[in-house]
Amino acid sequence: MQAIRVADGIHWVGAVDWNLRDFHGFETPNGSTYNAYLVVGEDKVALVDTVKTQFVPELLERVTEVLPPGSIDYIVVNHVEPDHNSGLREVMHAMPQAEVVASAGGVKGIEGYHGADVKVRPVGADDTIDLGGKTLKFVPMPMVHWPDSMFTYCPEVGTLMPNDAFGQHLASSERFADEVGLDFAIEELAVYYANILTPVATAVGKAIGKVADAGWVCDVIAPSHGVVWRGEAISAAMGAYDRFIAGETTNKIVIAYSTMWGSTDVLAREIADGATEAGSEVMLFDLNTAQFGHITRHLMDARALLVGSPTLHRGMLHRTAALLQYVWGIRPKGKIGGAFGSLGWSGGSTKQITDKLTETGFEMPVEPLTCQYKPDADDIAQARVWGARFAELVREPAER
Ligand code: FEO
Repeated sequence: MQAIRVADGIHWVGAVDWNLRDFHGFETPNGSTYNAYLVVGEDKVALVDTVKTQFVPELLERVTEVLPPGSIDYIVVNHVEPDHNSGLREVMHAMPQAEVVASAGGVKGIEGYHGADVKVRPVGADDTIDLGGKTLKFVPMPMVHWPDSMFTYCPEVGTLMPNDAFGQHLASSERFADEVGLDFAIEELAVYYANILTPVATAVGKAIGKVADAGWVCDVIAPSHGVVWRGEAISAAMGAYDRFIAGETTNKIVIAYSTMWGSTDVLAREIADGATEAGSEVMLFDLNTAQFGHITRHLMDARALLVGSPTLHRGMLHRTAALLQYVWGIRPKGKIGGAFGSLGWSGGSTKQITDKLTETGFEMPVEPLTCQYKPDADDIAQARVWGARFAELVREPAER
């Protein structure tokens, strides 16, 4: 794959990680990319972002298609997380005259990862770099997605390079959202946001506000993961972010559960039927097979999460505990929860589920649903009523 022009004088020179299947615990079934951009001015040239160490040769090959790496004048580090920055030293070695620039937080992060001998110039909102006919502007964007994060903007070609923001974990031979299909790209944007940016939604909202306040017109949004947004895709991506940040939901209910001998599975399906018949959209996941990232993507626009586990050794099964810990980290806001599960003689799983969901910030408006050993006709009827009760709770007030 060659270097690809994303705007006049801006070339994608990043790397495609086709085989990535796990990004710090978030499943990435479609791989990812580490995007880096070469911004070519009349006098100077800047590389915006680098890549993971093992992909540095791929990056340098693409840079070489445009210019000799030794002629690069600046390396802009928008974010120090290793997916973008672990290859910095190797890139610096190939670009010995390049000055490294980063936010003040980035300076500290680069020191932490690479050592104090790496010289880095701090830049902020008052700084610009003149490349000759092209300018780089910067705005620190703390917590989008780490304290060091920064957006870089080139006003002459209306190109925003916001690193993780507007990214998707998507490996493809195409470089633009309109090439892979806009609906698919927006769905991948949602999956990424749900799993990476939900805990920092306030910071993302502030970042979008700062871009607007700065008067930065965006003809191209070139993130550091996945495909690039241009043309009509820009307003689609912006509109999607508005909805994500606002926490827009539907009447969807997510049901996620583990099962030992099938009893909690029966309860889950009856709960789902009860909720569906009462008018809710339902997504049901057996935790033996479901991907957590898929569950949390659906949780993003759901109003309720119902979590099930039988009791084993007086507590919940470990897959249920793992999901709850994952959701605790994401901290979705404004949602209700429920706990259900079968038991043999001691019970205990639904209390643990209730405690963890409460700690995560879920409102728990309904008593847990349990049954002993195997659901009988009464248990099945109760499960349907329990599901229907949640369907009532997640309905818009105007629909009740
Ligand atoms: Fe793509 Fe926060 O790193």
